[in-house]
Amino acid sequence: MMNYRITLLPGDGIGPEIMAVAVDVLKVVGNQFNLNFEFQEAPIGGVAIDATGEPLPGQTLEMCRNSDAVLLAAIGGYKWDNLPRHQRPETGLLGLRAGLGLFANLRPAKILPQLIDASSLKRDIVEGVDIMVVRELTGGVYFGTPKGVFETETGEKRGVNTMAYTESEIDRIAKVGFETAQKRGGKLCSVDKANVLEVSQLWRDRVTLLAPEYPDVELSHLYVDNAAMQLVRWPKQFDTIVTGNLFGDILSDAAAMLTGSIGMLPSASLGASGPGVFEPVHGSAPDIAGQDKANPLAQVLSAAMMLRYALEQPVAADKIEKAVLEVLEQGYRTGDIMSEGMKQVGCKEMAEVLLKVLSV
Ligand code: IPM
Ligand code: MG
Repeated sequence: MMNYRITLLPGDGIGPEIMAVAVDVLKVVGNQFNLNFEFQEAPIGGVAIDATGEPLPGQTLEMCRNSDAVLLAAIGGYKWDNLPRHQRPETGLLGLRAGLGLFANLRPAKILPQLIDASSLKRDIVEGVDIMVVRELTGGVYFGTPKGVFETETGEKRGVNTMAYTESEIDRIAKVGFETAQKRGGKLCSVDKANVLEVSQLWRDRVTLLAPEYPDVELSHLYVDNAAMQLVRWPKQFDTIVTGNLFGDILSDAAAMLTGSIGMLPSASLGASGPGVFEPVHGSAPDIAGQDKANPLAQVLSAAMMLRYALEQPVAADKIEKAVLEVLEQGYRTGDIMSEGMKQVGCKEMAEVLLKVLSV
């Protein structure tokens, strides 16, 4: 029997609903594969602000540090949107990433054959799309200094953020990019804005310098505007993309949508050591929270990613991923992935059919 301590961060909005499904799935799979999960729950985001005044209480971060992996749902909501920045839910998420040193964010965007008709792009464009976005997560303009809103000499306010990367920050994420490409289709596209930004020129130079160490990887470079265009023009040209924090934030949403719904996509955030954080790419969807409409599958697939990347239980991960496909195969759809002729279900019913498939 393997024992794992998992910190659950359900967060806000639809977070608690979808987290409950992932926990049920893990319990079932745990029984089948002799894995014992010791779950401990902690507040982050809006619920943490309401309870403690802070979006990432020290105790939450401590619990995360002392676990084998962290499963996060989503944070944020209208209620907290107008608070000062240091008290916003998003600040808690950034604090978690920084606090655990999670510099590498893996966001797979793979089209599932069952969902091709849910994509807003034509079938022949998206059929077979299988992209991994490797996003740098603890640097760049999200964290660079100076930052703030300052008053100029004329009394006008000026908002400032700084996009900065050191060589070592670039090298470590580039390595993850190359290694990820090696395990996949062998193609790495590095995305930057080197035609305008100095920080991007350094990025491109460092990535290029590393390339000879990975002779089996075919490296290319794209400017971010072109990459955005290519993603919707001919996404099949991409295998693995490596890019900075802000560009990765934007491109991973675009890549997600190729697959029909952002409600299907998991992600992994990993550091050099210590626990990783596994979470859906989508947000807390406050507009549908508590209405039993949420799609729990990205959360469930995030639990599968956790089994694969953090707990080294690939067989259990496979089982969950196959069950998700099977449920889709049987025609069950939440509203976000609904298409003609399918059976529309809510979050709870989706969970029921999934658990049924899993228990055989
Ligand atoms: C994401 C989200 C976050 C980000 C927000 C919620 C801070 O958009 O994980 O992509 O910008 O990184
Ligand atoms: Mg985002």
